[in-house]
Amino acid sequence: MTTAAVHHTYYDDAPMGPDRSAAMDYLRRPGEVYRAGDVYYITSREGVRYAQTHPEIFSSEKAFDGLSAMIQLIPLAVDPPDHARYRKVLDPFFGPKRMRELEDGLRAQVRAHIDAFAPTGQCEVMADLARKFPTQAILTLLGLPHDDLPQCLDWIDGLFHSGTVEQANGEASARQMECSMALFGYLQDKIAHKRAHPGDDLISGVLAITGDDAWTDEQMLGMCFVLVLAGLDTVTAAIGFCLLRLAEDPALRRTLIADPARLPFFIEEVLRLDGPAQMVPRATTQDVEVAGTLIPAGTQVVLVLGTANREGLRSTNVDVIDLDERITHLAFGGGIHRCLGVHLARAELRLMLEEFHARIPDYRLADTPKLSWPAAVVSLETLSLTFPPS
Ligand code: HEM
Repeated sequence: MTTAAVHHTYYDDAPMGPDRSAAMDYLRRPGEVYRAGDVYYITSREGVRYAQTHPEIFSSEKAFDGLSAMIQLIPLAVDPPDHARYRKVLDPFFGPKRMRELEDGLRAQVRAHIDAFAPTGQCEVMADLARKFPTQAILTLLGLPHDDLPQCLDWIDGLFHSGTVEQANGEASARQMECSMALFGYLQDKIAHKRAHPGDDLISGVLAITGDDAWTDEQMLGMCFVLVLAGLDTVTAAIGFCLLRLAEDPALRRTLIADPARLPFFIEEVLRLDGPAQMVPRATTQDVEVAGTLIPAGTQVVLVLGTANREGLRSTNVDVIDLDERITHLAFGGGIHRCLGVHLARAELRLMLEEFHARIPDYRLADTPKLSWPAAVVSLETLSLTFPPS
């Protein structure tokens, strides 16, 4: 076992652009496991899988120490054995059956956003669609009023902007604090309201649990906050990258319009290559060896999903979209913390593309899209498209 080589390869310095390949090369080049500053990076698929499947060594709870001091991030920053208890309650609310029940409502929501700009012949995807729809979907899931969308969008905007790796692990900016407090207050009111007036939604469903397993208000708040943290910017980013890829590749777009059954394969490939969460944090609870390298106890570790997703056997280049020869990906994480919202995210992306193409089959870039970077979630800032008005 060797001690880790120290490099000056920092996540925030990666040359991230609309094409992520150069940044992933940069992060993978120093090796499977290496140290940069105080942080250890695990970049190989095998190493990432090892960390994901050994939560007793790679703790999520310790990785989020900074934010967790403010609120318990359920289930994201909970280690075993408590983690399983929370997931048992939450999983049914996010399963395929629940998503089928929500589908018609979500389709109508995304269609209304597209109908609003389709006649104008242009749109700025991020503002007109990609930020609005996922927030509305979470409000639907939680059973919160859609009229609250503009206010929630404002808080969420403040919460996410300038979120770097360091901030994900520790310090938050004044604006982030202000917006998270406002959001906490809002959610607290809504939880109290649902206790008195339950409905057919996630908050009411969890509040209905009684006895020893009943959740406290703090736990409810921690869970709602994580859904906002994990379920908004990620889908926003993925909407942007799906439409960017298709605006740049009319042949691929025509293939998908002719055969919508292939949309799910396209979505998985976009997530593999442009996954919004390119890295996830952990902290070690003991000394551990990964790929022959010692990672000491009490170390911050970054699992680089973006590099792990570019490993695999394939006859074509792993850096390009291939609908036929797909590589399974880790864009939704793995192990016990695998994304709770995976079915919702996939449904949102499929519905968005189906409705977009039904109304706007032909579109192209109006100008060069801009990527917001560095950021905890890799996303486009703007994506302007033009198309024949319809
Ligand atoms: C394309 C969209 C999405 C991507 C790429 C994504 C990615 C991820 C990843 C990589 C993790 C693992 C984090 C870790 O290992 O520390 C995760 C966890 C999680 N995601 Fe997602 N996510 C997406 C959408 C959503 C949505 C829509 C929701 C909910 C509405 C959601 C809720 C969660 C929650 C609650 C966790 C924590 C699960 C646990 O700790 O047990 N995500 N997600």
